[in-house]
Amino acid sequence: MLLRIKNLNVSHSGRHVLRNISTSFETGEIVMIIGENGSGKSTLLKTLAGLIDFDGEIILPNGYSDLSELTGYVFQNPETQIIGSTVWEDVIFGLENIGLSKEEMEKRANYVLELLELDELKFFDPYYLSGGQKQRLAIASILALQPEFLLLDEVTAMLDKNGKREVVQAIVKLKEMGKGVLVATHELNLFLPYVDRCIYIDNGTISFDGNPQDGVKIYKERIHSEFAQRR
Ligand SMILES: Nc1ncnc2c1ncn2[C@@H]1O[C@H](COP(=O)(O)OP(=O)(O)O)[C@@H](O)[C@H]1O
Ligand SMILES: [Mg+2]
Repeated sequence: MLLRIKNLNVSHSGRHVLRNISTSFETGEIVMIIGENGSGKSTLLKTLAGLIDFDGEIILPNGYSDLSELTGYVFQNPETQIIGSTVWEDVIFGLENIGLSKEEMEKRANYVLELLELDELKFFDPYYLSGGQKQRLAIASILALQPEFLLLDEVTAMLDKNGKREVVQAIVKLKEMGKGVLVATHELNLFLPYVDRCIYIDNGTISFDGNPQDGVKIYKERIHSEFAQRR
């Protein structure tokens, strides 16, 4: 399944934040989205989540009429997303709005909790979970909605080393399930071994789109030379 973007432009309060973005995303691939703070990574993901107005075209796969059916967005801070008073309830809450039978909701909840290795914590209050467990719960609740593409915005930034590792392993599982995964991140070395493609956004435009090793190399060289110039 292919999600294509053509000449995408996004403005925030009259200022162009994304300019002429054209690319496409496929299910079964992990794409790392890199770039300095303020370059437009979150705006790109939020636009693909259907949360922001845009100019240009986003071309959905056959059979889809709305971005919200196709994509699911996960925030940097899992606490902004977790609302249940137990792990189980949190997943169920997300499903209650889409009119599923009780059996279907429970089937999906069991499936995603097992997949993300949270099934033993079903009846725990999310408040007491570790950072990595909370973030896996946030991902599980979104995954239960069965999006084809997951949009993960700096989801490892707030985690300790173990939490980061857990979440990276979960992301690899999503790919193995055939999901498309877009990860905006500053943690280049953490993700590099697992990603299929890298998009480098510089000041609202795509500066590189291709092989992850090359993308990271170009980005690092650019950062170093800017740093040297500032001194
Ligand atoms: N809601 C908003 N209103 C106005 N400007 C915004 C808003 N969100 C982001 N911006 C601006 O858009 C630009 C891109 O931001 P963002 O997409 O968050 O970048 P990144 O995620 O790469 O750090 C920044 O200049 C930021 O200040
Ligand atoms: Mg951001």
